[in-house]
Amino acid sequence: MNTIRLSLGPFQGITDAPFRNVFKKHFGGIDKYYTPFFTGIQKDHAKNLQVEEIDPTCNDVETLTPQILSTDAEEILRFATQCKKLGYKEINLNMGCPFPRVANKKRGSGLLPYPEKIEAMLNAVFGRIDLNFSIKCRLGYFNPDEIVPVIDIFNQYPLSELIIHPRIGKQLYKGEADVKRFAELIPMIKAPLVYNGDIVSVDSFERIRKQVQPVNEFMLGRGLLANPFLAEEIKKNGILSEFSEPVRQKKDRLHAYVVDLYEDRLRHTGGSPKVLGRMKELWSYLMYSFDEPQEIWRKIKKINALKEYEEAVDAVFQERRIK
Ligand SMILES: Cc1cc2nc3c(=O)[nH]c(=O)nc-3n(C[C@H](O)[C@H](O)[C@H](O)COP(=O)(O)O)c2cc1C
Repeated sequence: MNTIRLSLGPFQGITDAPFRNVFKKHFGGIDKYYTPFFTGIQKDHAKNLQVEEIDPTCNDVETLTPQILSTDAEEILRFATQCKKLGYKEINLNMGCPFPRVANKKRGSGLLPYPEKIEAMLNAVFGRIDLNFSIKCRLGYFNPDEIVPVIDIFNQYPLSELIIHPRIGKQLYKGEADVKRFAELIPMIKAPLVYNGDIVSVDSFERIRKQVQPVNEFMLGRGLLANPFLAEEIKKNGILSEFSEPVRQKKDRLHAYVVDLYEDRLRHTGGSPKVLGRMKELWSYLMYSFDEPQEIWRKIKKINALKEYEEAVDAVFQERRIK
């Protein structure tokens, strides 16, 4: 169990630098983080890379991998050079984004049906890139067999890691992750492999882990946003489960985390009400830590003033029980 490594998947609009830093302060179990994707790296000193999100004084370059969404080898190389200068050891290419406005342009998971384009892009990147390069992808865009010729291409290059979320792009986040299909692909893949999808509890983690042996790297996503204790619980399972934390203590920790994140976001934005959007987005997952999540969500989603939000959160922690 000690050899299990866990990462937190990127979430555009949620897992930014303030989130990652506050999360790390309050919870354990996560070994590696990824930035939500960057785009539009048009210049050598791109403005959108001169931000806290990637600034090494606000991030740990050893455990954070910056992600890019691109199909342009020159842009990827430009991103890599700037990340290297900042001290990062690896970049990740997003080949998984399912949203039609991205995929219709043959970007994200929309690139997966075009192996010849992927090959031309990787050919231009490898040989010139001088830091680790990893990829995050799905099984395909239109159908789950699209990944097979793509794996042949991936196998030609020394990827530092291949993260597969076993859904197709067209599914968005609907249906279930196809763990069986992921397991069938394992012997075909040369790169160190990471499983991502639908890990929402220690039980689901254990079930998936058995199905995908010998894979021992897992990326958590919505499951960790909903239950921030999940990575700790997975790592403690079987070792310390008999000493599991009292519910009261868990509730206090959760409360401290939510307040800290909110206050940190307010500090970073000079008190902007935009903070509400980000906090609400988090609550659309975090509500599942409580009994009767839909009732909590109904109240929180319609809030549009900071004071109202603060009162609603106080009420949740006073009145609701955590699971
Ligand atoms: C709102 C939202 C934003 C996301 N943003 C990104 C992103 O920027 N980059 C990325 O690779 N994946 C992104 N993802 C995908 C997640 O990182 C993860 O792969 C996905 O939720 C599946 O894992 P899960 O079933 O454990 O949640 C996003 C997902 C959602 C729902």
